[in-house]
Amino acid sequence: MKNRELSAIITALGGRQALQDLLGVGPSAISNYLARGALPQRAHAPVCEALRARGWQIDPGSLVLADPEETDITARRRVLLVVGGGIAAYKALEVARRLQDHDVTVTGVMTRGAREFVTPLSLSALTANKTFTDLFSLTDEAEMGHIRLAREADLVLVAPATANLMARAANGLADDLATTILLATDAPVLMAPAMNPAMWAHPATQDNLNRLRGRDVQFVGPAAGDMACGEEGTGRLSEPDAIVSAALHHLDLAAGRPASSPLAGRHAIVTSGPTVEPIDAVRFIANRSSGKQGHAIAAALASRGARVTLVSGPVAIPAPQDVELVPVETARDMLSACEAALPADLAVCAAAVADWRVTGIPEGKIKKTGDGQPPILSLAENPDILRHLATHASRPRLVVGFAAEAADLQETAMAKLARKGCDWIVANMISDADGKPVFGSDDNSATLITGNESEMWPQMSKVALADRLVTRIEAQFA
Ligand code: C5P
Repeated sequence: MKNRELSAIITALGGRQALQDLLGVGPSAISNYLARGALPQRAHAPVCEALRARGWQIDPGSLVLADPEETDITARRRVLLVVGGGIAAYKALEVARRLQDHDVTVTGVMTRGAREFVTPLSLSALTANKTFTDLFSLTDEAEMGHIRLAREADLVLVAPATANLMARAANGLADDLATTILLATDAPVLMAPAMNPAMWAHPATQDNLNRLRGRDVQFVGPAAGDMACGEEGTGRLSEPDAIVSAALHHLDLAAGRPASSPLAGRHAIVTSGPTVEPIDAVRFIANRSSGKQGHAIAAALASRGARVTLVSGPVAIPAPQDVELVPVETARDMLSACEAALPADLAVCAAAVADWRVTGIPEGKIKKTGDGQPPILSLAENPDILRHLATHASRPRLVVGFAAEAADLQETAMAKLARKGCDWIVANMISDADGKPVFGSDDNSATLITGNESEMWPQMSKVALADRLVTRIEAQFA
């Protein structure tokens, strides 16, 4: 088998991570296979099976994809990566590297601002291609005019897309190479914005966003969390994995190929955030769930082409793009919204649902009595949404629950899996190793329990954890 044929197999499987997951090996093993141009014998059967499940024909003896025309699925995957000037520009290097793991050819374009943060040489070294910076460079114009550069791409990916770059693109300016390309290209454009939260929320940026969206520019992110500038909010560049997944998805759409993710077109229900249970007209019982994990899962599913219904309790963060948000307050509202969203292919219940609600809620506000006696609240158990979905007549094919525990993580989560009837549990401690609460934090570490097997995942951002979970879900649907 030639290296190129193995690359085509990896692409057909959905990328290196998918092969890693399928074979239970790490990234260096895949690099070794590529260097040798061969898979180990034990990999042949699972690879053939996974490829057939994805609709490919493969000769099990030679492990060559049947139709050479179709095998060459990577032939027209060229991304023009426009790097804007922001502190997140360094992450564009990681995006460039990971895109090539999927056999995408990357050519870099850097704005003047981007060059303040990373050098064209770094990007050229990673892409093995010349990085273009200057609109008026005669050499570049002679070798490859900017129009040709813009037209030869299958996708123009702008990462990070700064507020300034978005504004210039929205107004059709062409005062440097990056904006000229954005004006001249006929390829789809995907932007990954990154900026200070106040700049993102500013009506001018939101206006530019809507104008660009109106011209079919696609967006991935921005994510919520701590910013390099010390502030917190929405404006962080999405994680490289999420940007790469979104880019691959749009490359597939542009080439008229069935989207490479097996999640494309599937319907996913995600619950997120807390529920809020009224005590009287003004008071309520709630919890500290921020919705960051559930929202990140919804975003990761959407970036792989799934149709996502996000049923969320009240949170301070905005819903990710391309998901249908159903805002709810109580657990019973959340259950009704989930049932109304059925049928679905998968459900991920990440919400922190209140176990109890107050019964006999009075009209108006409970008043203090003169005798100093506090009111007695009587509680009733709330419906278990996860269990309901897992035992529903229209049960989604994959039902995933979360378990936040204070102790005995593994055993408690295993018992929960059985009790709730779900397929997988993502179990995490309520506080991290330093005793910092996971609720509201940007990071999480977890154990994924799938039946009798469990995988420990190290501490990572909630966005990265969402991406990892969705990659596992993808493999399940492959
Ligand atoms: O029982 P516990 O609350 O620990 O279970 C956690 C899991 O069950 C989470 O996935 C949560 O979203 C879900 N859950 C639910 N409805 C409830 C309670 C929990 O869907 N009433």
